[in-house]
Amino acid sequence: EDEAFLAAFQARIDAEEKIEPNDPMPEGYRKTLVRQIGQHAHSEIVGMLPEGNWITRAPSLRRKAALLAKVQDEGGHGLYLYSAAETLGVSREEMTEELLSGKAKYSSIFNYPTQTWADIGAIGWLVDGAAIMNQIPLCRCSYGPYARAMIRVCKEESFHQRQGYEIMMRLARGTPEQKEMAQDALNRWWWPSLMMFGPSDGDSQHSDQSMKWKIKRFTNDELRQKFVDATVPQGEFIGLTFPDPDLKWNEEKGGYDFGAIDWDEFWRVVKGHGPMNRERIEARRKAWEDGAWVREAALAHAEKRKARREA
Ligand code: ACO
Repeated sequence: EDEAFLAAFQARIDAEEKIEPNDPMPEGYRKTLVRQIGQHAHSEIVGMLPEGNWITRAPSLRRKAALLAKVQDEGGHGLYLYSAAETLGVSREEMTEELLSGKAKYSSIFNYPTQTWADIGAIGWLVDGAAIMNQIPLCRCSYGPYARAMIRVCKEESFHQRQGYEIMMRLARGTPEQKEMAQDALNRWWWPSLMMFGPSDGDSQHSDQSMKWKIKRFTNDELRQKFVDATVPQGEFIGLTFPDPDLKWNEEKGGYDFGAIDWDEFWRVVKGHGPMNRERIEARRKAWEDGAWVREAALAHAEKRKARREA
């Protein structure tokens, strides 16, 4: 790739032009997007597992209907994102194999267990809340298919966030046991939610280049700060306490100061040693293997049709 090509490409990015699938693009740009969109798609699909765990045990028919719809939405987001990645010349099979072999990552957050009904509230409120904070800027990502996918995804995520917060609100205003359950869920999900935004800017390998290419519009730490600032008043409003003694409003910076993140825990989970990593991948492997006959049948059908057309 010569310098003139790279400069011309950067000029398109700087002019806020959208890059489309058949446009020439630097190999690094393509690779970064395949990595990020693939990881994002895997996160949506693996993300169905912790919440799917509670569909049969939701406390009422209405709660069950909402949770079922929400988990289905996540599946839809995953398929949407796999399609966006496929426009870059990678196949769904390749991406799935990378997930199952551990080569492709998915969000650390989905390696934690859902122990009580309040966890469903905490996931909607915090995890989907963090996802929205990260995804709203992705609606302006320089790669057209990813940016357009994010618009619909964000609309659905905002419904998810509200249904989660509403569960937390009802529990927090319920019996002492219910309030305690909500508090316990917040205690367990708060720090992992902050980790979703990725390593601190100093340790974020890809941020600089991704910012230049306008794939990312904000750094990991910037988004984390925005999330804390938006979420702390919501928790306080329903009478919950954040599990961080260093959390304090900082008038000067116009945002909250918060305690240090346990990066050892983050990397442990990212590297496959979180509480649920093994189970999550096992569930995906089983789904992939159980679906093999469908893929084979679809292929055989396509070949038969082709032969018939050519006859
Ligand atoms: N969980 C697992 N891996 C992570 C996480 C995380 N929370 N955060 C960062 N990483 C990985 C990166 O993938 C990268 O590894 P790689 O080089 O093997 O791909 C490494 O840690 C270093 O991080 P960064 O250099 O900061 O990586 P990047 O610039 O890709 O930023 C981020 C990470 C912010 C997650 C970015 O990829 C992104 O915005 N992705 C799209 C959103 C997304 O994937 N959301 C998933 C959860 S939301 C949901 O599904 C409901």
